[in-house]
Amino acid sequence: MSKKIFSGVQPTGNLHLGNYLGAIKKFVDLQKDIKNNCIYCVVDLHAITVKQDPKFLKKNIRETTAAFLASGLDPKKSIIFNQSMVSSHAEGAWLLGCVARMGWLNRMTQFKEKAGKDKEKASVGLYIYPILMASDILLYDATHVPVGEDQKQHLELTRDIAQKFNSDFNCPNFLITPEPLIQENFSRIMSLKDGTKKMSKSDPSDQSRINLTDDKDQIVNKIKRAKTDSAQLPQNDNDIIKRPELVNLYGIFSSIQNQNLNKTINDFRGKNFSEFKNNLADILVEKIYPISNEIKKLLKDEKYIDNILKTGSIEAEKIARKKVNDIKQKIGF
Ligand code: AMP
Ligand code: TRP
Repeated sequence: MSKKIFSGVQPTGNLHLGNYLGAIKKFVDLQKDIKNNCIYCVVDLHAITVKQDPKFLKKNIRETTAAFLASGLDPKKSIIFNQSMVSSHAEGAWLLGCVARMGWLNRMTQFKEKAGKDKEKASVGLYIYPILMASDILLYDATHVPVGEDQKQHLELTRDIAQKFNSDFNCPNFLITPEPLIQENFSRIMSLKDGTKKMSKSDPSDQSRINLTDDKDQIVNKIKRAKTDSAQLPQNDNDIIKRPELVNLYGIFSSIQNQNLNKTINDFRGKNFSEFKNNLADILVEKIYPISNEIKKLLKDEKYIDNILKTGSIEAEKIARKKVNDIKQKIGF
């Protein structure tokens, strides 16, 4: 069956290995099946829910687009665009926001994490962020949404909004309830400095993540200096459970190599840590450095990137506009 795929990444700088393994690599895999209809969005309206420096926003939009392209997304096969150029997303978010319930939003753990202790000072945009995300997805009748595990709750909210809209306006199956596509294993890539914390764009320590723009030396040094414990490499699954940093590094290795954890454990059983780290650095240099190199090359031609976004936005707008008009009609406008 053909799938309609939609996903988005925020242009907030520092795209990292977690974004790649948790999301972008999957985008590329899905694009390979010609039956799939793929739409990938640089979600710049989401980015401004926290303060962005106007001097860097456009640069970050181009960099995220370049990362999409450098990782293998092809504008001839997928629609690639940025959200702020398609005004239907914001309009859809208003219409759907009148269907979503406060109680549903109050349960969103990402808001609680991002708003921190002082919720009163968080932007209203940050609070209603999941409704804009629902609008992104529902305007394209997306059936499948590849995301990292941290987005699962937002997908559930999207499904609730679709179902309530269909029921309130008596239009079964009008808004399509999408399925999340979440990596089964190693769905959360953790910080290189703390195996219990997610690898994140906003971590003040650059050593905590492999950026998609890192050069060879940076990749090798970050892996060399990645936190580990002093125990031997494990013999089996059970020996690894209480070692979060090692689980993460083994997870990264397995995920890049498309192999299961057991194979990684077997491959390195009895070997020493430095040998494992050297191997990990080698495969990261092999897979990530070409992406980093290509991003830098692409960024030299801003016009080329801007054109891809412009063309993609025109295509996206056609689809999204029609759906917003249909939604308005159902509401009674
Ligand atoms: P964001 O940068 O927050 O827009 O995230 C873009 C995509 O990367 C989303 O699908 C996230 O779920 C995913 N993602 C972000 N951080 C990680 C991580 N540490 N591990 C796995 N996936 C991640
Ligand atoms: N909220 C997602 C994140 O932070 C980004 C996003 C916005 C998204 N709209 C989307 C992902 C629609 C999937 C589908 O990662």
